[in-house]
Amino acid sequence: MASEKILVVDDEQSMTQFLGIVLRKEGFQVTTVNSGKEALEKVKSESFDVVISDIKMPGVDGIQVLQGIKKHDPSIPVVLMTAYASQQSAIDSVNLGAFQYLLKNAKNDEIKLVVRNAIEMRRVRSENQFLKRELKKGHDEKTIIGSSEEMTRVFKMVDKVADSEATILIQGDSGTGKELIAKEIHYRSRRAGGPFVTINCGAIPRDLLESNLFGHEKGSFTGAVKDSPGLFQVAEGGTFFLDEVGEMPLATQVKLLRALQEREVIPVGGTKPIKIDCRLVAATNVDLEREVAEGRFRADLFFRLNVIPLRMPPLRQRRDDIPLLVDHFLKRNARGGPLKLVSKEAMEALMKYDWPGNVRELENVMERAMILDEGGNITPEDLPDKIRFGHSQKGSLIIDSPNMTLEELEKEYILKVLNYTRWQKKRSSEVLGINASTLYRKLIAYGIEKPGGSRDGQDFGDDISDEGERAA
Ligand SMILES: Nc1ncnc2c1ncn2[C@@H]1O[C@H](COP(=O)(O)OP(=O)(O)OP(=O)(O)O)[C@@H](O)[C@H]1O
Ligand SMILES: [Mg+2]
Repeated sequence: MASEKILVVDDEQSMTQFLGIVLRKEGFQVTTVNSGKEALEKVKSESFDVVISDIKMPGVDGIQVLQGIKKHDPSIPVVLMTAYASQQSAIDSVNLGAFQYLLKNAKNDEIKLVVRNAIEMRRVRSENQFLKRELKKGHDEKTIIGSSEEMTRVFKMVDKVADSEATILIQGDSGTGKELIAKEIHYRSRRAGGPFVTINCGAIPRDLLESNLFGHEKGSFTGAVKDSPGLFQVAEGGTFFLDEVGEMPLATQVKLLRALQEREVIPVGGTKPIKIDCRLVAATNVDLEREVAEGRFRADLFFRLNVIPLRMPPLRQRRDDIPLLVDHFLKRNARGGPLKLVSKEAMEALMKYDWPGNVRELENVMERAMILDEGGNITPEDLPDKIRFGHSQKGSLIIDSPNMTLEELEKEYILKVLNYTRWQKKRSSEVLGINASTLYRKLIAYGIEKPGGSRDGQDFGDDISDEGERAA
């Protein structure tokens, strides 16, 4: 495995030599230079994993080296060194984006630790950069669809707030596009070049949540074998998306509130605060106001998060968007192949359905329909029963025949269901919501027989074949 490359910058040769010896002994590849100017040339021609630079140097000083490197490649961690007397400038440098500072009288162990942390940070960051690029690739295809009044309102709001630094709270039911909007806000903000980091507060065990958020110091709990930065640090310069924030335990809420107020975090097991620089977007599908009223969510934290409230409307309140979304998913899933059509009847069923799972459910239904459909025209047969027949409107498919008697309607409807289930009578009785013996009686009463087959009602009851099973 190639060892990490470190650039050491100091105008004093004795210092670069000393650091060279210490770090090479640790197995690192070390390059030393004795001026800020040389350092900036070096980072342009070679790639380094960490740069350690003295602050006070004649000509180009450490702060300028830091700024030059940040401009060239913001993911390279820069450690600045300073004599005790000028500790304040070192502290300022951290605010300018230095990874950390080292006092010149630091012990070897401390130097090694800081370098190892910097490398770890670089690794986490470059992983995140990779994810971010992947995401961005995906993001271009992930246009947000909607032209309903409700969505237009959301888009206008996003326009207004994306570029500000304000914290945003996105509330909305599951599958309404909260995460999609959060990403959109990030990519339209001045932090778009930084990372978009997500944490799902509901999916991580309580004890791990805090260490994920704030980082931890070595030995702070079993398994904490080394210091590790939290996601607040990983999100530096970018956007931190706190998903399912309503699931956060009260004890963690206190710490989050403190982090937001002070703009710094204290790693688990540590005492030294670390500055944070990220924009916060939070989302929840529970009603946070109610959570506050019932004592499960801190009111002060709620007000901190809810600086700009955004509500994602459920799909059933913006049915105009359904045909647009259907079209969008058809195109996206066609992946350049022939475009499928949706029959008028299928579209009617899609428009009528209530979509408790919102856009995600529609996305899944469309995907499934495109798999089931063979002819290039999506018909009601390609849709799940609950959408095709509706729970409370089972007769609705045939009410376009106003002159039919009720009995004729019923016969017609039973036939449709039988055709849909490919004459699996057990499934048919389920879809019809009647029991098997009732269906049997009706088949005889209406003289219904399987077309082409010699089957009468005789085999009814044994027909539990799964052949033709389509519904999920
Ligand atoms: N307006 C939209 N246009 C296109 N796709 C959308 C839209 N809204 C949601 N989607 C898609 O629906 C799926 C669900 O969206 P998303 O994950 O953003 O929802 P969510 O509100 O975060 O859901 P949950 O609360 O369950 O986490 C995603 O695949 C997303 O791409
Ligand atoms: Mg989500």
